[in-house]
Amino acid sequence: MKHRPVKISAVGTHIPARVVTNDDLSLTLDTSDEWISTRSGIRERRIVENGEAASDLGAVAASRALEAAGIDAADLDLIIVASLSPDMLFPSTASFISAKIGADGTPAFDLSAACTGFIYALATGNAFVASGQADRVLVVGAEAVSKMIDWTDRGTAVLFGDGAGAVLLEPADSRDEGIIGFDLGNDPSGTEMLQLPAGGSRNPATEETVSARQHFIKMNGREVFKFAARVIESSARKVLDRSGCKIGDVDLFVPHQANIRIIDAAARKLGIPPERVFSNLERYGNTSCASIPLCLEEAAAGGRITSGDLVLMVGFGAGLAWGSCLVRFGDLQRIQE
Ligand code: ACO
Repeated sequence: MKHRPVKISAVGTHIPARVVTNDDLSLTLDTSDEWISTRSGIRERRIVENGEAASDLGAVAASRALEAAGIDAADLDLIIVASLSPDMLFPSTASFISAKIGADGTPAFDLSAACTGFIYALATGNAFVASGQADRVLVVGAEAVSKMIDWTDRGTAVLFGDGAGAVLLEPADSRDEGIIGFDLGNDPSGTEMLQLPAGGSRNPATEETVSARQHFIKMNGREVFKFAARVIESSARKVLDRSGCKIGDVDLFVPHQANIRIIDAAARKLGIPPERVFSNLERYGNTSCASIPLCLEEAAAGGRITSGDLVLMVGFGAGLAWGSCLVRFGDLQRIQE
């Protein structure tokens, strides 16, 4: 079957207004700006207000992507939302976002692949458009991770932040632009390394799970670090090899924003010079499924993604899962501020 080429035509993002700095965190945690910034590269993050959830951020990002593309929610054929901090276990956050943007009747579902969710959702949306099952797919990464954080655990509390990003997938006019390929993978031996242990059917909510603080993210940071540094390189090489591209062809490397030392190590191993690596981790922390679309929007706004650029995105996270996507961008529509 001949597949249609698929392009990422528009992007929209939204971040909460409230800024929480490392100094703010060190008022309540045994930590410091010096420790957090040297060990992770993070200086501040955005945090939602009480009562705000992932869909509130995702809906704004989605509306901005639609406005940038000049289309209505009614024009969408599918909405896929990636999130590790969904509003609820069910119904899907995609359904809440659909209601907010007015996508009545449009199929909508969530995809669970933790921080790799945005790349997995991109691969899924790409398959729908490439096969002709859909013409316009909205892929949203929406996170209110701060609600899943144990604010007494300095090993995780300092790393994460909230935000959302959405991209529109459409058929490309020619094979000169659009999504070139993916590499997706998962190592199930690492399920213990990063998880939110309670609240699902394995450990449903009880007084014990609450008092043991099992409803928050638990992470073995050192092991996740080693895993990430390894898979970013191998996955990036695989997607480039399969696509007949070389490292030197990559105009911009957009890795998941978890830790600047992971990003630097991966870029060094791949031989990508710093000026071709995008990072905004300093200001947002790890926004999980939102991190890559937040980078795409900022990179386009700053002229670091322009028409014709080859962009390599790599995500990783709980699973332990990973995913890479190689894209030749055309015009990436965004709302000009
Ligand atoms: N402030 C001060 N000290 C701290 C803090 C903190 N916030 N957190 C940990 N420490 C202490 C530890 O207790 C430890 O003390 P000890 O030596 O007395 O035991 C010391 O600092 C060193 O701890 P390490 O864990 O070895 O520190 P490391 O340099 O590995 O950095 C970090 C920790 C930042 C968590 C790092 O391992 C990391 O980034 N890992 C990857 C995490 C990640 O990317 N997760 C998400 C990916 S997937 C997703 O996005 C969901």
